[in-house]
Amino acid sequence: MGDSLKRAAAAAAVELVCDGMLLGLGTGSTADHALELLGDRVAEGLAITGVPTSERTAARARELGIPLQQFEPGLRLDLAIDGADEVSPQLDLIKGLGGALLREKQVESCAERLVIIIDDSKLVERLGRGPLPVEVARSEERRVGKECRSRWSPYH
Ligand code: A5P
Repeated sequence: MGDSLKRAAAAAAVELVCDGMLLGLGTGSTADHALELLGDRVAEGLAITGVPTSERTAARARELGIPLQQFEPGLRLDLAIDGADEVSPQLDLIKGLGGALLREKQVESCAERLVIIIDDSKLVERLGRGPLPVEVARSEERRVGKECRSRWSPYH
């Protein structure tokens, strides 16, 4: 089956994109499918502006000819499309394993609507099957690391 479920989810999300939208562009292999499909639509004349959640996504979007705008606080986005690492039956998410947690939160919290695209490998009964990504400012690394270890490590 390969990536066909990711592709199908991405295609369904990209159908929601309309002319004139300011669009949050997610990060990861599933979001890459959405980027490619968006690139096709832009080549056909769709006029949108993307706000990337990572440098990797920005670079791919440029290759695909998708016009971009940098994120700035206060921006209002019409829609954001992104993947996830785990999704619970209540639709709670773990995100950030692709390393774009902070920018994803910044961009996607400014979107009127967030569409999460996944294949069935991401569905879990309970969040926490895999690691929980935590993104920390470099200046806070030691303090936060120590706090995380003292709260959650079984070895402290
Ligand atoms: C990026 O930091 C993550 O939130 C991704 O959305 C997540 O890792 C999904 O990536 P894949 O689509 O590659 O599984």
